[in-house]
Amino acid sequence: MKKIIIANFKMNPLTKKKAQELFKAYDIKTKHTVVLCPPFPFLEKGKNYILGAQNCFCRTEGPYTGAVSSKMLKDVGCKYILIGHSERRHIFGETNRIVNHKIKLCIKNKVKPVLCVGENAGEKRDVVLKKQLKEGLKDAQTKGIIIAYEPVFAIGTGKVCEIKDIINSFNLIKKIVPDAKVLYGGSVNSLNAKEILKVTDGILVGGASINKKEFLKIIK
Ligand code: PGA
Repeated sequence: MKKIIIANFKMNPLTKKKAQELFKAYDIKTKHTVVLCPPFPFLEKGKNYILGAQNCFCRTEGPYTGAVSSKMLKDVGCKYILIGHSERRHIFGETNRIVNHKIKLCIKNKVKPVLCVGENAGEKRDVVLKKQLKEGLKDAQTKGIIIAYEPVFAIGTGKVCEIKDIINSFNLIKKIVPDAKVLYGGSVNSLNAKEILKVTDGILVGGASINKKEFLKIIK
């Protein structure tokens, strides 16, 4: 079945040349929808993949030095934007309120937001997800929205979430946002991707997406 596979390159690779090598390798026909989210300076459209971005600012234009808006990203070919990734929340201090502004602006500017949610280790999953979804999607049109469940303890650690917990989170998110497509992210690799794709609408791949061999195995 056709799934959504999103590559989050994060702040990698270091050069445009290396990013282009990845684009070239990943620009292949596959049954899945493949979305590549490189760093801003390397954004480049391809034939077989869809371009995405890792973040945008919560305003459309104006005196906001260093900021990039969803409208600009749309103009250079981005169709998806990751919003509220846990690294944005924890390192850059993004709150659910800011996330909500960004989501609404993406929708207004006709780019698909991918809302990232997930609990820290030791937090109550249901409570955190409900709050992040309620506040992040407040007054937003949820038709066609994509939500990525990414438990923080699983991101970049190699400790993938157990399948039963992925299924529980998937069901909880679908119950709260019935229109959503729900992805899983956190230590996805070529060995666990198939099993996770069976129980979700797709995956969000970080570390493994900048490893050519790994990511090709995942999308093929
Ligand atoms: P990871 O990252 O695959 O390296 O765990 C996922 C993400 O942060 O989106």
